[in-house]
Amino acid sequence: METVVSGIRPTGNLHLGNYFGAVKSFIQMQNEYNCFFFIADWHSLTTRPKPENIINSACTILAEYLACGIDPEKATIYIQSDVKEILELYLFLNMNAYLGELERTTTFKEKARSQPDNVNAGLLTYPTLMAADILIHKAAKVPVGKDQEQNMEMARKFARRFNSMYDVEFFPEPASFSLAAKAVKIPGLDGSGKMGKSEGNCIYLHDDATTIKKKVMKAVTDSGPTQPNSEKPEVIQNLFTFLDIVSTKEAYDYYNEKWNDCSIRYGDLKKQLAEDITNFNAPIREKIREYSSNTGLLDKIALMGAEKARESAQKTIKEVREIIGFR
Ligand code: TRP
Repeated sequence: METVVSGIRPTGNLHLGNYFGAVKSFIQMQNEYNCFFFIADWHSLTTRPKPENIINSACTILAEYLACGIDPEKATIYIQSDVKEILELYLFLNMNAYLGELERTTTFKEKARSQPDNVNAGLLTYPTLMAADILIHKAAKVPVGKDQEQNMEMARKFARRFNSMYDVEFFPEPASFSLAAKAVKIPGLDGSGKMGKSEGNCIYLHDDATTIKKKVMKAVTDSGPTQPNSEKPEVIQNLFTFLDIVSTKEAYDYYNEKWNDCSIRYGDLKKQLAEDITNFNAPIREKIREYSSNTGLLDKIALMGAEKARESAQKTIKEVREIIGFR
């Protein structure tokens, strides 16, 4: 069975865009591959988080991913900082990672621009740590968003470089498994195109009925169709995309007809949508609550994941040491 690795940056709560963008793919992949999903808490240090935020966000993410259906019996789910072998590989890879190529990475250049008072070495070597995350399990596939493509190219480059340097065929070149290609794109309801944290337009999986209703009722619309069967402008298409995902086919067809004969009432559509999103979220929301309040269980799951991840990492690092000459 092929090995899959993916890291989750601990940046707050999961929203519907995350769910349909990445989480759903993870849930499917855990049945088909030997999956390692980890919370990238070392990576988060590049932006100086507070100690209490590190532990809290790890718990939150773990609870939310479990609530969505990531199954610790099928996939290995762990916290990066529990697997120290990654650091050793990070060091080895850094010895053959060059300043020029690291500086040229667009993510580094962007970060350096956005936090000019904290352009640290961790930021510079972010791609090496990410490569270590992946290569430590000799992953064949890595589900990532488009923004990670350059980091993936670096990971492949570092794998090839190691192999050719020591004249071995040790690390497989990890292929990107494009999440964007598989995902349903969840639009923002504010007319900004995409649901995202930085856009501030998210419907979170933990949102309750009142919050969801407030957010949906605020969705941007237009003054309504004037010609029968006209093409939908983007903000209206967004509402229909949502209906398509969370509502029944009957509801979708009903509002589509209303659009086509120009009798649509956006208020009704939004009420329906808010209700259907609430129903979609309800079971996940309930499980998030259960997991979050059971820290004993979360600890147990994290420990179990760490043990499985360490076993795989130790095997790799032992061989790497031998190849390099530490015997
Ligand atoms: N860089 C990834 C992101 O920002 C997170 C990440 C860290 C990752 N290590 C990884 C993803 C290893 C895949 C594999 O989303």
